[in-house]
Amino acid sequence: MNKKKFKHILITGGAGYVGVPTVSLLLEKGYKVTVIDNLMWTGNVLLPFLSNTGFNFIKGDIRSKKELTDSFEDIDIVIHLAAIVGFPACRKYPKESREINVDGTQHVVDFAKGKIPIIFASTGSTYGKIIEKYCTETTPLNPLSHYGKQKAEAEDIIKTNDSFIIYRFATAFGVSPRMRLDLLINDFAFRAVSEKTLIVYEKEFMRTFIHVKDMARSFLFALENFDKMNKEIYNVGDERLNVSKEEVCRLLQKYVEFYLHFVEVGHDIDQRDYMVDYSKIQKVGYDTTISIEEGIKELIKLSDIIKIENPYSNV
Ligand SMILES: NC(=O)c1ccc[n+]([C@@H]2O[C@H](COP(=O)([O-])OP(=O)(O)OC[C@H]3O[C@@H](n4cnc5c(N)ncnc54)[C@H](O)[C@@H]3O)[C@@H](O)[C@H]2O)c1
Repeated sequence: MNKKKFKHILITGGAGYVGVPTVSLLLEKGYKVTVIDNLMWTGNVLLPFLSNTGFNFIKGDIRSKKELTDSFEDIDIVIHLAAIVGFPACRKYPKESREINVDGTQHVVDFAKGKIPIIFASTGSTYGKIIEKYCTETTPLNPLSHYGKQKAEAEDIIKTNDSFIIYRFATAFGVSPRMRLDLLINDFAFRAVSEKTLIVYEKEFMRTFIHVKDMARSFLFALENFDKMNKEIYNVGDERLNVSKEEVCRLLQKYVEFYLHFVEVGHDIDQRDYMVDYSKIQKVGYDTTISIEEGIKELIKLSDIIKIENPYSNV
């Protein structure tokens, strides 16, 4: 007997860093999954799913209402991931990022027409520069970057849908088929191994992290516990993974030999320097499973496998 409340999941941005492990997990759990993605990076990451009869792909752009139309056929719920992600990319492409992160989210809500629930991937970057150092879901948002502001606006749009869950994720780390090296731990690990040097600013700033596979697990958790979680915002991460940039470097030093230098120049645009409270989602029953050290070990192996220029630094 199939007890699933939702059977067919639409994932926007399913070919991305978070999307691919999410598609993989949901297919493995027997969900039917349709992905809509404009393949800004690569479609190769979806190849392992093509033999699965539960997988369907639509090459489309969420800015186009016409392309979204097809993706909404026979859908029970949407996991909305498609976005221009991170402050460097949104600063570089302010118009496009607004069209995708804000207007695109409005299109998804227009298609859901209140009837189809939406799980939305927001971010702790919406907190921005906060006064108290411990954030809960009720901490007033003060985003400073285009990215943080656009995601905060998108949250307001999502809240107009009849049923939704908003996840404010910690910064991801770990290996995914669509690899991102612009994320802090991934970036630090890759540079420590491949360049043997790491120059770090704001070393005492506290950041908060989550493994990308635990993000995928959080979506499965939301599908299985939707009624309990409906119409709520959750920080998604783990207090054990609230650590300073210096602590990340010290963990790396346990496994890699490299030259580490802390400097006083440079700063994070969103001035993210906070610890995040995750008790709300823990009370519903969600917990993470992968530590930073485990992530570092897999990232060290990755650095031997891929040889690419690191596009960003210190983000
Ligand atoms: N990775 C993190 O640390 C993190 C943390 C918090 C929140 N998030 C959120 O999770 C989501 C996924 O992030 P990610 O790390 O996988 O980024 P990503 O860039 O790897 O994935 C984004 C995906 O969206 C697709 N896309 C972009 N614009 C599109 C459009 N107009 N139409 C259709 N598809 C489009 C891209 O092709 C890509 O596959 C984003 O909404 C992001 O804000 C990520």
